[in-house]
Amino acid sequence: MYTSQIDNDFAQSIKKGLGSSSQKRVDSKYFYDTEGSVLFEEICRQPEYYPWRVEASLIRQRSKKIIGMFDDNFALIELGSGSSIKTKILLQDLTLAQQRVYYFPIDVSKEILYRATRELGSEFPNLRVAGIPSEYVEGVNRANKLISSNPQIPNRKLIIFFGSSIGNFEPKDSISFLQQIGSKMDKNDMLVVGMDLQKDRFILEEAYNDSMGFTAKFNLNLLTRINRELDGNFNNHHFVHHAFYNSELKRIEMHLLSTQEQQVYVGRLGESFGFQRGETIHTENSYKYSLEDIKGIAEKCHFTLKTTFIDKKNWFSLAVFSPV
Ligand code: AVJ
Repeated sequence: MYTSQIDNDFAQSIKKGLGSSSQKRVDSKYFYDTEGSVLFEEICRQPEYYPWRVEASLIRQRSKKIIGMFDDNFALIELGSGSSIKTKILLQDLTLAQQRVYYFPIDVSKEILYRATRELGSEFPNLRVAGIPSEYVEGVNRANKLISSNPQIPNRKLIIFFGSSIGNFEPKDSISFLQQIGSKMDKNDMLVVGMDLQKDRFILEEAYNDSMGFTAKFNLNLLTRINRELDGNFNNHHFVHHAFYNSELKRIEMHLLSTQEQQVYVGRLGESFGFQRGETIHTENSYKYSLEDIKGIAEKCHFTLKTTFIDKKNWFSLAVFSPV
């Protein structure tokens, strides 16, 4: 039977994560199968999920300022573009400011990437879009090559990383990731990162426990995915969504909590996994930052923190970095 590399990575990762004798875990990148991506878009429409709407309104308010930070034309690179609704807000102003705009969205999900690429190309006549289906660092490499091989494309670049996806990285991994991105940037380039801020725990916890239950479905969908792709026999009714703010580590943690003692068999792994009642699978961390944290990140990455755009309630920030 043909098995793709992705399936294989998934199988290996589940084998390791569920087989752990301490905390069981599944990497949050596995949330985003087709169903999971749809559920994530639902989450973003929920009133409790403030990160989406606060970031969108920040981009709306500040996009001209961001564009104005450059004194010349620039190419736009986006990390993790997804359905790129927020980017459209920026592109509206950018396609007015520049005669021709070059946009390189980078995403591992080809389907979503190419759909967005087509739609944007027809919506903005003076936009040139080249979607890059790749991991981020490799994607920036490829964008750089495209930029330097075509003299029409401006050499300067603005890299955007929206959605507070940086929050999924462990702090030390976020530093090395941003350092790698920084090593692909020139002095006049800029990087804008959406970063969710520390705030009252009630607001944070509501955002990850929406009343319509979409976040719960999104979390539980991991079990459905294991059942489908790895021939597992998880009973979703025997697990519940559990999300809370870990105030010591400054992160939202999402878990799937086993409501009873049970054994689950995963056919493709030929292995079964035992759960105590109350035992959890840790499925996601979403780190929340202070302004001090953001300054510290800039320092460690050898970036200048040009500015941070923050909403009135101090809930979300767009941090603007540039290589020193
Ligand atoms: C896409 C990682 C930014 O952490 O808020 C939303 C994912 N998880 N609700 C986040 C998520 C549960 C989201 N990020």
